[in-house]
Amino acid sequence: MTTPEVSIETRNHWQTEFASLARAYWTADRTEALLRGKTAALSPRESPVLLRALGLLHRDASMPPAQVRKYFQINHMVATLRPALRELADRYGPLNLIDAGCGRSYLSLLLVECFRAREGAPAGAPLRVLGIDRDPAVIGECRRRASAAGLEGSAAFLASSLVHVDVPEAWRSAFGRPADIHGVIALHACDTATCDAIALGVRMGVPLIAVAPCCQAELARGWAGLADSGASGAFAPIWGAPQLRRQLAAQLTDAMRVQLLEAAGYEVRPTEFVPSEHTPKNTLLRAMRRRDGEEAAWARYDALVAATGGVGLGLAATLRRRLRTVCLRTLSEHDAGTTLEGEVGPGPVQEHADAIFEANQEQDVNEEPE
Ligand SMILES: C[S@@+](CC[C@H](N)C(=O)[O-])C[C@H]1O[C@@H](n2cnc3c(N)ncnc32)[C@H](O)[C@@H]1O
Repeated sequence: MTTPEVSIETRNHWQTEFASLARAYWTADRTEALLRGKTAALSPRESPVLLRALGLLHRDASMPPAQVRKYFQINHMVATLRPALRELADRYGPLNLIDAGCGRSYLSLLLVECFRAREGAPAGAPLRVLGIDRDPAVIGECRRRASAAGLEGSAAFLASSLVHVDVPEAWRSAFGRPADIHGVIALHACDTATCDAIALGVRMGVPLIAVAPCCQAELARGWAGLADSGASGAFAPIWGAPQLRRQLAAQLTDAMRVQLLEAAGYEVRPTEFVPSEHTPKNTLLRAMRRRDGEEAAWARYDALVAATGGVGLGLAATLRRRLRTVCLRTLSEHDAGTTLEGEVGPGPVQEHADAIFEANQEQDVNEEPE
């Protein structure tokens, strides 16, 4: 998938020269001035080549002030994910991740580099990432960066929408063989792309889903519609006030996502992954798959939707359709060869699915299609 633009020899030479320049530039004082007592997953002194490939270091090895925020964002995201990734590496060995809405590959490449160089992953257990983004120009840039950093064997990139991507096929095509996927991560995948990342992870049943949402506009759009139609309700003063509507809708969108992840069987921990001085979009929903879907979480989701005006997330409809498919498939596997046609009514799995769908049919009709 990667097309190196320079020969391996030229690249190796450049990497050696730049690493030496960076070692000279990043004295203890300069490093301390940047980090101010904090530890970073990757410091400019230890991983200059990657940071240069990502555009976070200038050609003289300094870090332009405009890049400092991004540097801390991705370092903090990696630090917050580290315990979950360690847990997964202990359980599964080599980790395979999807970076959903990967943008210019900051997080994808930082994760690969951390596990390769520093993370204390078990020997022979590196981490591979497939970054997916719908923008082909961005994907071209990701491939150039991976190649410049020498990480093209562990990081591959695909131009695709998250909704329609065939991950097993994309992985096989990128890395030459099929693999289990252990996690879907998404840093600031805009608006409903975060929901698409969650849906992708649930669809594949991955052990870890970690999303740092941004631009949560879907609910705010629905509330604006309520205000325009003159609807009444306890939240009407918020529906009609754009600034309050945006802020509250962002919080409630994430609260609804937590319920939907729990409904799908994930244990979710919302955390602040980076101080707000680096980005106000600093909430991380870290979800580990622990159990079967939790019915009570559907009730909590429905209660949140009902209490705030009746507008929900398209993600709910997507997950409900998926639950129905899984239930029906389980039922047909369970029943195969064990019943006579017409002799018995629906089994418990079917009844469970039907009960959920009947209860929510009306709401689903009003939600956006997938
Ligand atoms: C704000 S950028 C964040 C990029 C990157 N994760 C980062 O933090 O640097 C969001 C990215 O998501 C991509 N995106 C948005 N919706 C998408 C979708 N439905 N499928 C695939 N990519 C999507 C955009 O093209 C964009 O590059």
